[in-house]
Formats: sequence, structure tokens, C-alpha cells
Amino acid sequence: MNIDYIREDIPYYGNKIFLNSAGSSLMPSSVVEKINNYLQKEQEIGGYYLADSRLEEIADFYQQAAKLIGENPHNIAFTHDATDAYIKALTSIDFKPDDVIITTDDDYASNQIQFISIKKRFGIQVFRMKNLENGDLDTADFERLVEMYHPKLVAVSHVPTNSGLVQNAEAVGEICQREEIIYLVDACQSVGQFDVRVSELKCDFLSVTGRKFLRGPRGTGFLYVSDRMLNEGYAPLMIDGGGAIWKDENHYDVLPTAQRFETWEKPYALVVGLTEAFRYANELGMKNIETQNQILMNRLRDNLSNISEVTQYDQGSKKCNILTFRKEGLSLQTIKEKLEQNNVFFSVSNREWGVIDYKKKEIDGTIRLSPHYFNTLVEMDRVAEIIADI
Ligand SMILES: Cc1ncc(COP(=O)(O)O)c(C=O)c1O
Repeated sequence: MNIDYIREDIPYYGNKIFLNSAGSSLMPSSVVEKINNYLQKEQEIGGYYLADSRLEEIADFYQQAAKLIGENPHNIAFTHDATDAYIKALTSIDFKPDDVIITTDDDYASNQIQFISIKKRFGIQVFRMKNLENGDLDTADFERLVEMYHPKLVAVSHVPTNSGLVQNAEAVGEICQREEIIYLVDACQSVGQFDVRVSELKCDFLSVTGRKFLRGPRGTGFLYVSDRMLNEGYAPLMIDGGGAIWKDENHYDVLPTAQRFETWEKPYALVVGLTEAFRYANELGMKNIETQNQILMNRLRDNLSNISEVTQYDQGSKKCNILTFRKEGLSLQTIKEKLEQNNVFFSVSNREWGVIDYKKKEIDGTIRLSPHYFNTLVEMDRVAEIIADI
């Protein structure tokens, strides 16, 4: 991986150390250029004329997204973010009282809020599978829950927002496929960070955002929908003229493809920008990105484990490029200020983003560092020096 070439694509990088790709990453120049050029053209001839003249470029969105996860273009829908994708998948399921959702302690906060909301409105039940001592999912416990409750839906966040845990979403998928249970994977933090194959996850829905490890623009995302869901007629409850055709007073037909999960209006400048981000990642190769990310992260984890007052809170047999830590005797605010003074970009992950996990860990938040392949080993050493000096 040619880091000089990659850094040339981030012209305003300067001397910062950017470790916030789990928040909102840095777009390559070509992504920004695509967006700007498209917007300029919209100003010139109007959005409708332009979209009609760019059908091929827009169709490439579906090709590139499909390539990224090893699937087909007809299984892809553009969405306005990962949560939009997730909500559309959820509303396509006809929940009845006493239906069961099985999820995990580490699923994303907004997903947990949505489950509580569905519970309130439809009287469903929510169960969470246990974790093993090391933080991995207890798949035997999951099998037990499946046998007991025959869930309508199983939902797993591949990587949570508030720790570097990689959940064994493949093992869960294996069981869901065998039992023919609808399986929804939140891949918001994993797609773009490491190689993710839907064929290995065996999921029915996969929600993804644009702005994080994929390095696309804010306000973009996509949803993967399996052929099984499409063939069985699953469609969002609040469907519009982009996903369905109004046939007569009381009837509409849904589109045959996953585009039935889209709304009619789209920010086309951002669609072509995100397409470019997909293309960029596909060209570098997700396997190469994954390898480079592991090299950087091993260095950062090793560096921080050499600082005795630092505790890293990431669990699991497989960890990724989200490192969460605290330093003994120091408030998060103090660490935050010191990192900011040294031009380090990062996030603070507060309690409300990981209520169950942070309760188990007996903390009220962490500092979250999330390096990506455009970072360097020198930066991994420098940030550790800064943290050691606080
Ligand atoms: C694991 C996870 N899922 C979902 C989301 C929501 O993504 P978006 O803000 O694009 O809807 C996030 C955002 O941080 C996340 O970390």
C-alpha cells in the first residue's frame, strides 16, 4: 500500500494525527471533486436534467457497493445513513405481540432504542444473548434462546460503536440460516474497515454508513437486502414512489429490486461521491486495507499496553481498529484536552453509547481512537508518547 500516494489524496492533512475514522473519516480528494462537480452541474442545468443524463454513473453506485460486499447490484439500496437503512429493514418486518427479537449487549445504542420502541408499540419481547468471559458471543446461549423463543428477528452489530470488539456475526448467521430466522447485521463500523462478505455473514439485511471507514460523505449509506427477503415481498412500511408504483386507488406494486427500500428523492451529488469512495476502497482492495489496519492497530495496542496507567477496554478474541482506553487518575476531560492540544483527532465515547457494556466494565465512558490505513506507524508511536506524557 503506497502511503505517500494515499496521503496526496488528503491535501489538508497537515500535521494532525487523525484517529477518528469510526466517527467521520477523511474523504479522498476524488470523492470531494465528484461531489463538487456534480453540484456545479446541478446549478447549471437543474437536478432532474442532470440525473437523467448521468444514469450510468448513478447505476455504478449499485455495482461498486455490491462489489464491496461480494453481492449483486439488485440487492443494494441507497440510504441516507446506516440508521435509515436499519429502520427501513425493521419496518419491513410484520411484528406481532409476543414476537421475539434476539440481540446482543453490544448492539448499537440507536438499535437498542428502536427495539424498545417496537416493544412499547407492538408488545414484542427482546432478549440478549450472553457473552463469554473474554467478551465473545456465547453461541451456545444463543442456540438455547433460539430453541426457547423461536425469534422473529436476530440483530447483531458486527462491531459496536464503543469498543474494538468484533462480534462473531458469522456463527450467528449460520444458526439463523439453519433455522430460517431473519437476520439483520449492523455493519456500520466494519464495512470499509476490513473485508466483509455477506456470503459469510449469511444475513438478510446489512446496514452500512458512508462517512466512517468507507471515507464517503456524511448523510449517505446503503442497505443490502437478500434475495430471500426480496422474493418474499419484504418492503418498508413507509414506502414511497421511489420504492413502489401506484397502480390504482388501492394498490401499489413494489420494485423487484432492493431499491424498493429507497425513497424517491436522493442527494445525487452525494450518491456519486459515495460511489467514488466505494471505487477507491475496491481499487485498494479490502483485504489490503484490512492487513494495513491490523499492522497499525497492533502497534498502537502494544504501545499503549506498555504504559502501566493505561487500561484498554476492548474485549473479544478478534479486535479491530477501535481502541478505547482510560488513564488511571485522569478524567476523560483531562485526556481529551491534552490530546486536542497535540492536534490528535479522536472521539469520547460516553456511557449512553454503550450502556450495558460500560456498566459491565464499571466505567462511564472511554477515549476512542480509530486509526485507518492512511495513518502511519510513526503516528501510532507519537500518539502513545503523548498519552504517556499526560
Ligand atoms: C455500530 C454503529 N451502528 C450504527 C451507527 C449509526 O450510523 P449512522 O449515524 O450513519 O446512522 C453507528 C454510528 O456511530 C455505529 O457506530
